[in-house]
Amino acid sequence: MSFDVDAIRAQFPILSQQINGKPLIYLDNAATTQKPQCVIDAIVDYYTTCNSNVHRGAHKLADEATRRYEGARDVIAEFINANQREEIIWTSGTTEAINIVANGLAQMLKPGDEVVVTEMEHHANIVTWQQACKASGASLKIAPINDEGELIIEAFEQLLNSHTKMVAFPQVSNALGTVNPIKELCEKTKAKAPDALVLVDGAQGIAHGTVDVQDLGIDFYVFSGHKLFGPTGTGVLWGREVILRDWPVWQVGGEMISEVTYEDAKWNELPYKLEAGTPNIAGVIGTAAAVTWFTSLDMHAVKAHEAALLASATQQAEDFEGLRIIGTAKNKTGVLSFLMDEGHPADIGFLLDKQGIAIRTGHHCAEPLMNRLHVPGTARASFSIYNTLAEVDALFVALKKVKMMLA
Ligand code: ALA
Repeated sequence: MSFDVDAIRAQFPILSQQINGKPLIYLDNAATTQKPQCVIDAIVDYYTTCNSNVHRGAHKLADEATRRYEGARDVIAEFINANQREEIIWTSGTTEAINIVANGLAQMLKPGDEVVVTEMEHHANIVTWQQACKASGASLKIAPINDEGELIIEAFEQLLNSHTKMVAFPQVSNALGTVNPIKELCEKTKAKAPDALVLVDGAQGIAHGTVDVQDLGIDFYVFSGHKLFGPTGTGVLWGREVILRDWPVWQVGGEMISEVTYEDAKWNELPYKLEAGTPNIAGVIGTAAAVTWFTSLDMHAVKAHEAALLASATQQAEDFEGLRIIGTAKNKTGVLSFLMDEGHPADIGFLLDKQGIAIRTGHHCAEPLMNRLHVPGTARASFSIYNTLAEVDALFVALKKVKMMLA
């Protein structure tokens, strides 16, 4: 199967529009990806043919909504190779998924316990654990990175010990694009900190390849639907059944109970005990459609295409006078973060937008990382499968104009 980027692009209606009189060049994929027509259709079809609540109805529409909602769970279980479909918990996104784990952990941590994260975290993978530690008297330990934006493995290892109860790190840094060696980090954790659970924040990694949670040896994997060509407001918490089974409930209410009296309540089984209330049914169905679409692609070709985009962008950035790449890890995917001598990232973003090019600027929800790298923020171009080498070239033509305007 070959990779035809034009055929891919044709499936994304949003990409054919003009912005500020120029063809849209969408390079903000780390913030959210665009949606193919089949995902939009799946959502429209749900609302036009079977909108109803799940698990409760005594009628045909409710049955069909439930079939699609639970079918979506099967799609995700197969996608990440979960051992059981009950290990897939639908959430509103990566942030909620980490909150479910961190809130549960906060109830188990004791003073003297330790949680380890890295210097390259998104706020969602810092503040959650920070608050869990504050609530319980445990300590948050930060594994350092080098100036290239790579985790220093030896220093990470030195933080692990019998007090470590959780180790959380990103699959891919949203701000720098650094790819972490999940399996290696997990093996080191299990060897030196036998009581520690390992959570991987897959928000930025999920759209750049395939993940096998059983092979990785981790305990929790979380990601968002919207960074994987699906709708916003959906996410997945995967956890090993033996752990999730007894995990403290997160929200209480309908769906997550098996029995209620005024005096007490009993919790439902997995996965329902962690899915209180009416879920985002349309979003879940759209996310499964996105996964089905994504997995129909030739993943080797996808990776090769994305690697070519990043290689071209990196080469042109290195040749660009006055531009500094922030994040030069050997193993990177999808992200070119940079600064220019002439202007603040916000000005770069504004002037690129005038030329139809969408990037993100600022601290990328990673303020401690920006402080570590001694930068106020960056301009970040992030690539996806529908971007072209011509768009990468256009970015650098536009940056030359930006440079002249700011000089
Ligand atoms: N976490 C998203 C980003 O990196 C929003 O832009």
